[in-house]
Amino acid sequence: MAPKAPKNSTTFPIYVLNGPNLNLLGTREPEVYGYNTLADIQKAVTARAKAHGLTVAFKQSNHEGVLVDWIQEARIKGCGVILNAGAYTHTSVALLDACRALTNPLIEVHLSNPYKRENYRRRSFIAEAADAMICGLGAAGYVIAVDAMAGLLKEQKE
Ligand code: DQA
Repeated sequence: MAPKAPKNSTTFPIYVLNGPNLNLLGTREPEVYGYNTLADIQKAVTARAKAHGLTVAFKQSNHEGVLVDWIQEARIKGCGVILNAGAYTHTSVALLDACRALTNPLIEVHLSNPYKRENYRRRSFIAEAADAMICGLGAAGYVIAVDAMAGLLKEQKE
């Protein structure tokens, strides 16, 4: 794969960004999204990153512009980004544009498999900028994304 991240990207945290309504995980449609809370996912992701010698900046917002700001922040710092944009995945050209401007790896994550669901969830704007997408594996998908990100960042350094 073509290197994208600057060589110092492993010295900065991986940005794990979560979009609208993901603060409700654990109680929001658990039959779709599972019983893990966002705090549970943060704990698992942080531990896995640590095992790779990496740190994580784990954030959630219900506001599109705030997510754009964080993606730009990751761009300036040269960080890898793991993004579950929630419903903005299917609507936001602003998030796509911010993601396109990233120079470091981007992995899109979804707890559910949007391709098994309503038609309107089958379009992802984020996918047009992402290096990879992990979906349908619940909270485990985030941990797998950390493993994948660690691999991409390592590739960069070599
Ligand atoms: C989601 C899937 C989206 O379609 C939905 O709007 C979400 C969560 C997921 O993680 O499965 O909020 O991104």
